[in-house]
Amino acid sequence: MPRKIVAGNWKMHNDLSETETLLKDLKKQVIPEDVTVMVAPSFTNLYKAFESTREHPIQVIAQNMHQSEKGAFTGEISASMLKSVGVKTVIIGHSERRAYFNETDDLLAEKVNAALESEIQVIFCIGEELNDRENGDQYEVIQNQLENGLFHVSEDSWEHIMIAYEPVWAIGTGETASPKQAQEMHQFIREAISKQYGKGVSKEVSILYGGSVKPANAKEIFAKKDVDGGLIGGASLKADAFIAIINAFE
Ligand code: PGA
Repeated sequence: MPRKIVAGNWKMHNDLSETETLLKDLKKQVIPEDVTVMVAPSFTNLYKAFESTREHPIQVIAQNMHQSEKGAFTGEISASMLKSVGVKTVIIGHSERRAYFNETDDLLAEKVNAALESEIQVIFCIGEELNDRENGDQYEVIQNQLENGLFHVSEDSWEHIMIAYEPVWAIGTGETASPKQAQEMHQFIREAISKQYGKGVSKEVSILYGGSVKPANAKEIFAKKDVDGGLIGGASLKADAFIAIINAFE
């Protein structure tokens, strides 16, 4: 069975004291035992966040990493640096990285390899843009993103991979895919994984939905058969909203 996961992507929000306050508020809450909760603070706050959650089930994850082990790459962070501050999971291929930092499928494939080689789990983000959906091309776009960025990995690697389906038109816009649209795409993704790697892999992989998930819509979305949780942006910045989403599984 896929794990139920709710991951908060804090993006470029929260300085050190805001990070500590938010974590303090989150730690006061009881987290359901069957839900894995992750938060992705900025790089500068990773270590402090890791330290403050040592005794708590909240996992601290990274928003990005560089594909090289080390070297002259000013401003970049490697997998081993992440590991050294306790990070065990990284988000790769978020649509903001693809759009604003020109991250291509080929580059993302390299990042996936680098993470897996360092035994860091990957949340691999995929999602179509509005015009893709308007043209009816959403399935083709998703298939290509999977094939070009992810389907080179070995079958064994899937134990360390999660998918986040995030339609670009729904991120930070207040617009959410309907539960039906989310389910259709999640089912498509699971079938694509099944065709490539077999049912054994596809039935275990967690496929998260992302894009304007909030307390008011999380229940309906998480209730869908192939939705195993969410990658949450805006609503993960407020402890009460994030906690409500964590508790939105039936
Ligand atoms: P949002 O962001 O929840 O603010 O739409 C989701 C994401 O970018 O992961």
